[in-house]
Amino acid sequence: MAKENPVPSIPQHVAIIMDGNGRWAQKHHLPRLSGHEAGRKSVKEVVQAAIHHGVRYLTLYAFSVENWQRPREEVQGLMGLLRGVLRDELKEMGEQGIRLRMIGRKQDLPEAVREELEAAMENTLGNTKLDLILALSYGSRVEITEAVQAVAREVKAGSLDPEAIREKTVSDHLYTREIPDPDLLIRTSGEMRISNFMLWQISYAEIHVTPVLWPDFGKKEFALALADYAGRERRFGGV
Ligand code: FPP
Repeated sequence: MAKENPVPSIPQHVAIIMDGNGRWAQKHHLPRLSGHEAGRKSVKEVVQAAIHHGVRYLTLYAFSVENWQRPREEVQGLMGLLRGVLRDELKEMGEQGIRLRMIGRKQDLPEAVREELEAAMENTLGNTKLDLILALSYGSRVEITEAVQAVAREVKAGSLDPEAIREKTVSDHLYTREIPDPDLLIRTSGEMRISNFMLWQISYAEIHVTPVLWPDFGKKEFALALADYAGRERRFGGV
């Protein structure tokens, strides 16, 4: 007899590793930044698709801690692109009920981006349709390291007994506190890697890898990923 799947068929939280902008640009004989610009359109389309399907949290890996090592021109281009998104899309985001959030080392971002980001997060704080979480200067190992430091400080100060440390103590010190773990992780461009992304939080996530490059990923591919997810049987380590 087919086993009843007790998990809702629409994931509450979808996280995406948006990969392949550079290869897309190369394929079209364009500079890398044009690939990122094309990727911006996919971001817009996927945000709409997430709302359409009733996804409640959408996390996008937009810039990793490792990405600072890219050529200065590309880093500046990406930061400019981010500022553009925050400036141009904020009004629409507000009207659509999107709450903007971020995970990552905010202190690493250029001041102009940080200010724009903080204003956008503040302005959309009350929205409840979709939490759009941008991972910016994000690295999972640094996130866990910072959490360990914070927990150690509490132990040293005497406010926390080491024996009382639980999994929840750790997750409460991550950037994602108050955000449920992703149910579905999507990676574009075919790479079978996690790339230091939400290592703690994806413990039980279903993984969907598509060969489609991020700038070619849109509502159709998003729906395919959701259909793939709906067909999975999640057991969370049980039987
Ligand atoms: C990975 O492609 C993508 C990035 C490092 C940046 C993602 C940024 C965007 C989609 C643009 C704007 C989005 C927001 C939210 C502002 P890659 O450059 O590593 O591609 P490659 O592996 O083919 O070189």
